[in-house]
Amino acid sequence: MNAAKSIVLIGMMGAGKSSVGRVLEKRTGLSRLDMDQAVAAQFGMSITEIFETHGEEKFRDAETVTLRNISPKRPVIVVTGGGIVVRPENADLLRQLGMVVWLKGDETILFERASRRNTRPLLRNENPRAVYSELFRKRRPLYQAAADFEVDTSNLDHDQVAEAILTRLEELTATK
Ligand code: S3P
Repeated sequence: MNAAKSIVLIGMMGAGKSSVGRVLEKRTGLSRLDMDQAVAAQFGMSITEIFETHGEEKFRDAETVTLRNISPKRPVIVVTGGGIVVRPENADLLRQLGMVVWLKGDETILFERASRRNTRPLLRNENPRAVYSELFRKRRPLYQAAADFEVDTSNLDHDQVAEAILTRLEELTATK
């Protein structure tokens, strides 16, 4: 783990990255940087509008630029979008920031959570369940490879996930 000790949350849509990020922000006193919010602010529009107006590739370009612009010197809680691992260069950038934590879980449970809000452009289509399943299958090895450790969120609430992360970080620091 590098000196910055940022906590970087990765995982599928519905894994709880944003909510857990908010709990971690409160518990650690670190600031939180939500990459979707940062990209949306740059474009001055919602993520859905960015996908509709500029297309997914432009969104991914902006995501990588945003990631590059996060200083590795100041520890923060980084909340990523679910597709951050799709571009191989991003995995290195994530690791340079600190500890990368994969919030994983049962596919059906995560999809059900992801479907509660209609704000995700990749799920606004005729068969969101099938799209989710395909993304889940393709991305699982990418999350695994990018992460320092993982937490299964299937049966945990956001506070419990945050607790599991902090406990694991303490253990890792103690055994260093
Ligand atoms: C995406 C996940 C979204 C957002 C965009 C693309 C993805 O973030 O970045 O809609 O490719 O999985 P969340 O994981 O916060 O939903």
